[in-house]
Amino acid sequence: MKISSAEFIISNSDVSKCPKDVLPEYAFIGRSNVGKSSLINMLTDRKSLAKTSGRPGKTQLINHFLINKNWFLVDLPGYGYARVSKSTKKVFQKFITAYFAKRTQLVSAFVLVDCRHEPQKIDLEFMQWLGEHQVPFSIIFTKCDKLSKNKLPVQIELYTKEMLKYWEEMPNYFLTSSSSSLGKEELLTYIAEVNEQLKDRK
Ligand code: GTP
Ligand code: MG
Repeated sequence: MKISSAEFIISNSDVSKCPKDVLPEYAFIGRSNVGKSSLINMLTDRKSLAKTSGRPGKTQLINHFLINKNWFLVDLPGYGYARVSKSTKKVFQKFITAYFAKRTQLVSAFVLVDCRHEPQKIDLEFMQWLGEHQVPFSIIFTKCDKLSKNKLPVQIELYTKEMLKYWEEMPNYFLTSSSSSLGKEELLTYIAEVNEQLKDRK
């Protein structure tokens, strides 16, 4: 899919104030610093459409980006470790949960995990929660440039093994790198296909 336009629309902390459009949307979620905002910039070929930082806790609101005038990418604050206070973390958690529970335009979540890390409790629990709330999701392994060609498949294998303790099958997943653009076409093609299926269903 070619990205001909990508525009920032609105930031807020209240799901009821998100855009009223009924366009399909895809949300990026995961621990702080995992690379959610960087991935949005990589996919859209825009260097600083979404704000990124080496310091965890950069994204603090629900951010809607309108792509090709017909679907949204949504950047969210990270859960888990972030250099924010406990009370701020609670506020994040509240509106992130409300977003996933209430946003009917959400077609699929993408749960981002750093390919170098072992499965983290907070990610596993969040995926469990999505499952319980019937929110479809895929996993996106980020920062794949940081692992060698040999090491990457070993890590994915380990992750899959852990997931199969809780899930009947490994969810759909993507290998990505915002530095090398690995996974860009695959991810955009996947979104384009889902958008097409939704059109057919109307
Ligand atoms: P919060 O908004 O704080 O939740 O973080 P985030 O998940 O949006 O992460 P962000 O995109 O801001 O990236 C965090 C750091 O990781 C930045 O220093 C990025 O440059 C770096 N980073 C992100 N993606 C990649 C990647 O694919 N490869 C490498 N090497 N670094 C990356
Ligand atoms: Mg961010």
